[in-house]
Amino acid sequence: MKSRALPVIVAVAFLGLGAWGGANIKTTFSFMDFVPEGAPLLHEEYSGNINAEAHQAFGDVEAVFKDCDLIQTNRFINKRQEQDMYDLPADTELFARIEAIHQRRCQQCHGAAEVTRPYWVDLYAPEETLFLTAPLAKSAGGSQKCGATVYPDCSDKDYSAIAQWLEQAVERAWIYPRRDLRSLPSPR
Ligand code: HEC
Repeated sequence: MKSRALPVIVAVAFLGLGAWGGANIKTTFSFMDFVPEGAPLLHEEYSGNINAEAHQAFGDVEAVFKDCDLIQTNRFINKRQEQDMYDLPADTELFARIEAIHQRRCQQCHGAAEVTRPYWVDLYAPEETLFLTAPLAKSAGGSQKCGATVYPDCSDKDYSAIAQWLEQAVERAWIYPRRDLRSLPSPR
């Protein structure tokens, strides 16, 4: 019995020591913990624990702005996406649906895949997307580039289905913008 009790006593003693030690160790986790005055100095050569700081001002900014013909303001977008984003050109399900229609309506003259190009989608005016305007009659606002009228007007079932899908997809793309889209002016 004695031989078993001893390790238990030793273990309890160490546990107690550990708890005492733990209570006496001050842990500092966040980078901001080092910034306030009086915080422990990590490296003597960096006062306030700040390694580098940059403030830039060149000339009289206010005066220069007044003289400018054009002022362009840009935003830098972090590479990390903070929220869910909708990648419209990568929406294979959407383009498969559109291509299925193009197989019926365009295949006679074009390969369906050739006229179902994600980068044709006009993000500011989805109805101006090339695969909607080219086959649409001029009388209905299309360009009728196909010569033959494929869609006589906007009430064509296939035309209106694609137009509606694009409208929704574009809306979603602006609500959950991809990084490159976030740097462009939003249409709303
Ligand atoms: C009866 C034949 C025919 C059909 C059907 C047809 N097209 Fe065309 N399409 C043409 C011709 C001809 C051109 C002009 C020459 C070219 O660019 O190949 C053209 C051009 C285009 C262009 C290029 C427009 C531009 O500005 O350069 C697109 C996009 C297009 N068609 C999409 C479609 C789509 C989408 C469909 C089906 C919904 C369709 N076409 C159905 C014959 C057709």
